[in-house]
Amino acid sequence: MKQLLVINSSINGDKGHSVQLTQHFLAQLPQGSFSVDSIDLNTSPLPHLAMSEMAAWMTPAEQRSEQQQQLAAISDELIARIKAADVIVLGVPMYNFGVPSQLKALLDRVARAGITFKYTEQGPVGLLDDKPVVILATRGGVYQGTAMDSQTPFLQSFFNFVGLNSLHFVYAEGLNMGADAQQAALSAASQRLLEIGEAVAA
Ligand SMILES: Cc1cc2nc3c(=O)[nH]c(=O)nc-3n(C[C@H](O)[C@H](O)[C@H](O)COP(=O)(O)O)c2cc1C
Repeated sequence: MKQLLVINSSINGDKGHSVQLTQHFLAQLPQGSFSVDSIDLNTSPLPHLAMSEMAAWMTPAEQRSEQQQQLAAISDELIARIKAADVIVLGVPMYNFGVPSQLKALLDRVARAGITFKYTEQGPVGLLDDKPVVILATRGGVYQGTAMDSQTPFLQSFFNFVGLNSLHFVYAEGLNMGADAQQAALSAASQRLLEIGEAVAA
């Protein structure tokens, strides 16, 4: 059975369109084809990354204090869950043209020198095995393809940097632009998810 990791970051919780779209994506996968691991950054937020945590990463495991062991374990566990997944699905609301700070706090713990990326004389090399990453981008307005969409290039750069290149962006935009626009956006996103679901389950 394949393993699927869902990461949600909407402050609306289960009422968030991004969360509902991730649920929709899971519901239409063939039954029994995936076991699901979930990270809900709304109910279990991570603090901003601090130097004490980075210092714990940089201290050899056998020399870490008890507090450093606990701090390093936060990132170690997140990376282990990402490595264990065959497919990753992210619900990503647009907040002030970027990703939710809840999600940024997680990504800050996934980029680890020597573990998920390394620098060589030719530049950075991602160390994670490639796998499909489905990004459900929900927005009140319509920004895809414009300079005001800082989410897409950021997420693309970030995931490519750690070795994840099979990215599937699904946009549900104009969600705050009236009932018709919302309905059209959600149904187009659902249709796209159906196609991606078939591809990742194959
Ligand atoms: C704090 C905050 C900031 C937002 N900033 C933007 C924005 O910059 N651009 C945009 O199109 N929508 C913005 N919105 C609207 C959300 O993107 C929209 O409501 C979306 O549906 C949120 O995702 P969710 O339904 O999964 O919670 C913002 C909403 C909140 C709560």
